[in-house]
Amino acid sequence: MSVKNIKTICCIGAGYVGGPTMSVIADKCPHLTINVVDLNEERINLWNSDDLSKIPIFEPGLQEIIERVRNKNLFFTTEIKNTIKNSDMIFISVNTPTKTKGIGAGKASDISWVEACTRQVAKYAVGDTIVVEKSTIPVRTAEAIKAILENSKRDNKEKCSFSVLSNPEFLAEGTAIKDLQNPDRILIGGEDASSIQSLKDIYLNWVKEEKIITTNLWSSELSKLTANAFLAQRISSINAMSALCEVTGANVQEVKEAIGLDTRIGSKFLSAGPGFGGSCFKKDILNLTYLCEYFGLPEVASYWEQVISINEWQKYRIYKLVINKLFGNVNKKKIAILGFSFKADTNDTRESPAIFICKQLLNEGAILKIHDPKVDEAQIAFELGELGKENSLNWSFSHNLGNIFDNVEAIVLLTEWEVYKTINWDLVNDKIMTPAWLFDTRRIVNPDKIKNCDFKFWQVGLGNDI
Ligand code: UDX
Ligand code: ADP
Repeated sequence: MSVKNIKTICCIGAGYVGGPTMSVIADKCPHLTINVVDLNEERINLWNSDDLSKIPIFEPGLQEIIERVRNKNLFFTTEIKNTIKNSDMIFISVNTPTKTKGIGAGKASDISWVEACTRQVAKYAVGDTIVVEKSTIPVRTAEAIKAILENSKRDNKEKCSFSVLSNPEFLAEGTAIKDLQNPDRILIGGEDASSIQSLKDIYLNWVKEEKIITTNLWSSELSKLTANAFLAQRISSINAMSALCEVTGANVQEVKEAIGLDTRIGSKFLSAGPGFGGSCFKKDILNLTYLCEYFGLPEVASYWEQVISINEWQKYRIYKLVINKLFGNVNKKKIAILGFSFKADTNDTRESPAIFICKQLLNEGAILKIHDPKVDEAQIAFELGELGKENSLNWSFSHNLGNIFDNVEAIVLLTEWEVYKTINWDLVNDKIMTPAWLFDTRRIVNPDKIKNCDFKFWQVGLGNDI
């Protein structure tokens, strides 16, 4: 394939990765036309909503970009056939959840959605088409994509050829726009130099050349899994140390600062918390362990499995601690839950530690008063599942902090939303029952601000009452 002057792009999948990524490309490349297609009509309608507060993903800075580029050079549609037909380059950005049945169930990634949309590409593409894997996928998925595309001749009577690239996305939710506008690096894996150059030319519109690295396909696919495994490992490491700090009288914040100054370790991604959530870390490590087992490396698999075990344990130990501090009984006790998203600045709840902790507390008979600035009630009910339905009288939700604290016996702060940093704890003190506890699992409450309060205070990695 010769280097193509790309004019029209299609992205299959209008989710947390596809939506923001294509918005930023459209913003930075006004000469390109970008169509984002999804089979979920409701999602596409939300992306097209006149009221920008209704677009399906909350990310700081995203609404402003959508306002600038939507229906100019960025379009959201369910029309898959013609969109694929008219595109020079197609990004695959569909979901790759963990398999729920069959070989590798509970570990391997399910690439059904990748396969299904690749079949659509194979069927409708015309001419030379570059297919780019954006979704996080198991190593050697490109092989499956290539095989499907190469067999397109039977269904597709048009003259067509394909080149497959891997271009994993490293954005983190909550900072997606900043990460996309100013990435640490862009990784492009592939075999065909001209196709790699065509994709590179797009990024060169706003990313410096030295930040764009190219590798073979398999290194690119594996680098994404490795990056997520290393990041998750740092969190499990600091969370493991947080438990040790609590019993030895050390302070995890001080330990974090002390080790973070070592340039070999670095200061980022060392905040102890209630355990990592999000759609990637657990799924990708499970996928990695499956790959290791598949390739006959059980020791490597069990090494990475520990990162997940510590994460599950961190959530469990926080739940148990809440129960213990409340005299081993939370039945009919009101508890305020501050934050339900898996981290601040996102409305995403996938794998949020709040899900496990709230379910356990509901199971113990607690009455939960849940607050989150961006997650909505229906999403919380969905995450709490059957328990959410059965116990619907036992939990309530509010976007407003107003009456969340009335008569509660505990406050469990689970997400580091900015609004929680400015709570006037003296006012809260007047509303709660006594004795009561504040559990700060994110270390964002300033102990000076609660000096005059009656409630007891616990912080992750410190644990001393003050
Ligand atoms: C992650 C990767 O960072 C990103 O590169 C990849 O593309 C997708 O997966 P994301 O899951 O969106 O991104 O958010 P991230 O900021 O990595 O946080 C993941 C979880 O770790 C959150 O629950 C967060 O609260 C937790 N975390 C993060 C900590 O507990 N401590 C930290 O120091 C950092
Ligand atoms: P991610 O976090 O990786 O972006 P999401 O689940 O948020 O994942 O988004 C993936 C999107 O891909 C969903 O909106 C889903 O409807 C869409 N999708 C899955 N398969 C197809 C397909 N064959 N054609 C079009 N869209 C698809």
